[in-house]
Amino acid sequence: MLHCERLQRSKIRQLSMLRANSFNVSGKVSILGRLRRPCHGRESSMSTTIRAAVLGDEALLVVLNGFVHELHVANRPEYFKPTRAEHVSAWFRSILQKSAGLIWIAEEDGVPVGYVLALLHEREENPFRSARRWCEIDQIAVDDKWRRRGIARMLVQRALTEIRRHGIREVEMSSWSFNEAAHHAFRRLGFAPQIIRFGLTLPE
Ligand SMILES: CC(C)(COP(=O)(O)OP(=O)(O)OC[C@H]1O[C@@H](n2cnc3c(N)ncnc32)[C@H](O)[C@@H]1OP(=O)(O)O)[C@@H](O)C(=O)NCCC(=O)NCCS
Repeated sequence: MLHCERLQRSKIRQLSMLRANSFNVSGKVSILGRLRRPCHGRESSMSTTIRAAVLGDEALLVVLNGFVHELHVANRPEYFKPTRAEHVSAWFRSILQKSAGLIWIAEEDGVPVGYVLALLHEREENPFRSARRWCEIDQIAVDDKWRRRGIARMLVQRALTEIRRHGIREVEMSSWSFNEAAHHAFRRLGFAPQIIRFGLTLPE
């Protein structure tokens, strides 16, 4: 495990420092598990903790969000823009203040390595559609050094448990067409495609 930790990127060191400064550890749910795959040739045990994010976690979430946002900026630069930490932090703060926004953070031996953000939605009936309550898993990301070890699965399972507690049964996730890794993961997590959005950019 120490061997793996030495290989963590500077982001993770940054996260650890942020955690030491600002983490509120209330509401932790601890899940003990085994690494499914060897870590750099070594099989080792690990302790994955999934906990609800709280006010004060904004700085951690800014860093974790980078694991998905940078992918989006790299692949769809005409749509996504580079972020400023203070803006993203304020955005997460506003989500944490809303009861319709739910965020969980995954930690490995106390180091934040992933998060999931779920938004609860409600829509009234209209002439075409029935009234509806549903949940959108709006953001999910795992540090690339910690992928394929079941962390997204644990995050999603934690989110689904809470979503069900709200009496909601319909859950959606959407993903850009370039992101085939996410599509594979979503399918393995039990989600199936429901809609295909076509796009066209007109020449200037
Ligand atoms: C998508 C993402 C969150 C998955 O996280 P993860 O922790 O690696 O996922 P898990 O290890 O929990 O895997 C869950 C399931 O998906 C499968 N899976 C995960 N990544 C996969 C990949 N790249 N290719 C194929 N299958 C994959 C796993 O095998 C597992 O299925 P199994 O348990 O039946 O074997 C992670 O790749 C990520 O952060 N990507 C960048 C951000 C992103 O794209 N977010 C989604 C934006 S819409």
